[in-house]
Amino acid sequence: MNEPLNPFPIYGYFGPAYFCNREKETDAIIASLKNGRNITLYAPRRIGKTGLIHHVFHHLGKKWNCVYLDVQESFSFKDFTNSLLEATLNAVSKNKTLLKQFQDWLLMLRPVMSANPHSGSLQLEVDFASENQQRTTVKEALKLLDSFGPGVIALDEFQQINSWDVDSVSIEGWIRSEMQQLKNLRFIFSGSQYHLLSEMFNSAKRPFYASTQAASIGKIPTEDYSAFIRNLFKNYNRKISSNEVNQILNWADGNTYNVQLLCNRVFSKTKKEATQELIDSSILEIYAENKLSYMALSTSMSKYQWQVLTAIALEGKVYQATSKEFITHHKLGSSSSVLRALEFLTSRELVYQYLEDNGRAYYEIYDIILMRWLQKK
Ligand SMILES: Nc1ncnc2c1ncn2[C@@H]1O[C@H](COP(=O)(O)OP(=O)(O)OP(=O)(O)O)[C@@H](O)[C@H]1O
Ligand SMILES: [Mg+2]
Repeated sequence: MNEPLNPFPIYGYFGPAYFCNREKETDAIIASLKNGRNITLYAPRRIGKTGLIHHVFHHLGKKWNCVYLDVQESFSFKDFTNSLLEATLNAVSKNKTLLKQFQDWLLMLRPVMSANPHSGSLQLEVDFASENQQRTTVKEALKLLDSFGPGVIALDEFQQINSWDVDSVSIEGWIRSEMQQLKNLRFIFSGSQYHLLSEMFNSAKRPFYASTQAASIGKIPTEDYSAFIRNLFKNYNRKISSNEVNQILNWADGNTYNVQLLCNRVFSKTKKEATQELIDSSILEIYAENKLSYMALSTSMSKYQWQVLTAIALEGKVYQATSKEFITHHKLGSSSSVLRALEFLTSRELVYQYLEDNGRAYYEIYDIILMRWLQKK
């Protein structure tokens, strides 16, 4: 596995040394896969779903063929079919015998193949004549992979299939029935659009109903993340005090991506010991980089919607958006206008409704950097 340039990578997976915690979640997912249960993995954006999938792959070990596919990058069923073939080819490429078998089958489809000059991974494209041919190809590829022994296919951002040019419910039904014929292959469906995924997997009317086990991940506990960050600084002969680490975790609101982003900056500026000034200047840099897109965002909605967004940012968490205190404090007018604005902001994924363990729901700005930026204005 490659070493990251900075011990706090902001994309990609670089092995357990750079991955904090998630032990229970990893064990639970592995136990499910080993016992023949498929998984649906839910979490809000940038909490660490994709990282966790790769971490699970790492711990499953060499016996498993692990195929990862970001369905968000497939704009049609044809793209998906090609990406699945490509991902499978790369997954089996570490085993010469399997690679040969898969390639021999693949060559019958007359693919255009190349190697990515940057990553070295194999790329391919097949020009399918019909949707039927795509279905047959996926079926055969899965059957072949299944015959290779234990395997897992992770379909990340799976809700994307709803936007394809084919009837997505019929595709769901078809994937479900194909899945049932496989002996050794398990599936992980993951995504951040909870309502879309939940409708697919929890509605009795839909093909995937009751076919998977739900798993969800939340923020990494503060103590664990704090120890992890201090340790990594130490391993690289640098120091950071727990006070400074807490400040980073607070600013990032525990959101994994934002913690990584700020740690990455602070680490890169630290010669011996991280200081308050380094943290402040790193935060200012992050604001400066995002400022233009936030300005554009403000002009893409009404003044009132922006006002509601700012009010939520200032509060941090809003339990009752229609309460008198919230409305009068931020001069928002009527509760029905607040609700309409909230509906708009939620549909644009600017505001997210979170559930606490005790079942209480609250609204928070989805993008924590935007939240912090609005708070400081
Ligand atoms: N447990 C972890 N420890 C350290 N870094 C992590 C951890 N989990 C994720 N990351 C890092 O945090 C960032 C966001 O994680 P990831 O991309 O896995 O989130 P995601 O939930 O898949 O996001 P998205 O919704 O955008 O797809 C990445 O840079 C990833 O490397
Ligand atoms: Mg992801």
